[in-house]
Amino acid sequence: MPGPPFLEGTSITLRPPHRDDIAFVQRLWNEPAVRRSALSAVPMNDRQADWYYENHLSSTDNIYLLVCEESTPIGMTSLTAYEYGPDATTTARCMELSTYLAPEHQGQGFGTDAIETMVEYGFVERNLRRVTARVGDFNAASKAVLESLGFAREGTLREEMWYRGEYYDKHWYGLLREEWER
Ligand SMILES: CC(C)(COP(=O)(O)OP(=O)(O)OC[C@H]1O[C@@H](n2cnc3c(N)ncnc32)[C@H](O)[C@@H]1OP(=O)(O)O)[C@@H](O)C(=O)NCCC(=O)NCCS
Repeated sequence: MPGPPFLEGTSITLRPPHRDDIAFVQRLWNEPAVRRSALSAVPMNDRQADWYYENHLSSTDNIYLLVCEESTPIGMTSLTAYEYGPDATTTARCMELSTYLAPEHQGQGFGTDAIETMVEYGFVERNLRRVTARVGDFNAASKAVLESLGFAREGTLREEMWYRGEYYDKHWYGLLREEWER
């Protein structure tokens, strides 16, 4: 059972995903408007969804939370240690942020609220020093959210992404704790 929210934003709440949420997560990952941003061209079937739940969503190195409106899941947000590994997260206090909303819930401020809530959790409760995000140049919404929350665009990998026959630049964004505290 979901139980109380783990974190509360202004218009959304964040709670850990449970086994019953696998179908929602699977639907999210198979949505063209969502997987495009992750440049995922791989469908997720039931068995892969179970694997994802066991190996990613249940990992203790990473933090995955469902974004909920009222108590209904509308997306997922995460802070993960993938890029530098759990040891570097422990020493450099850096994690990577990702957020995905179902298409019908995009463009209504929920993403900004979820990311703001997750960033505060990262700095205040997990004592992070830095939050990183990677964004494709085509992703106007993602760039707008990160920039409005004070993330700096730190670098661009030219044509590092490929989707449906086109190459795209990828930007690295970062927010340091002292920048967030200002
Ligand atoms: C990226 C995402 C999380 C943003 O959340 P959202 O709830 O849709 O965005 P918001 O409604 O909070 O809008 C945030 C800003 O983006 C702008 N924006 C929203 N959609 C936009 C679009 N399609 N094009 C340009 N700007 C857009 C808004 O105007 C707002 O800017 P402002 O604060 O200057 O007014 C969400 O759109 C999403 O899940 N997209 C698909 C998955 C994805 O791209 N994830 C990120 C991977 S890096």
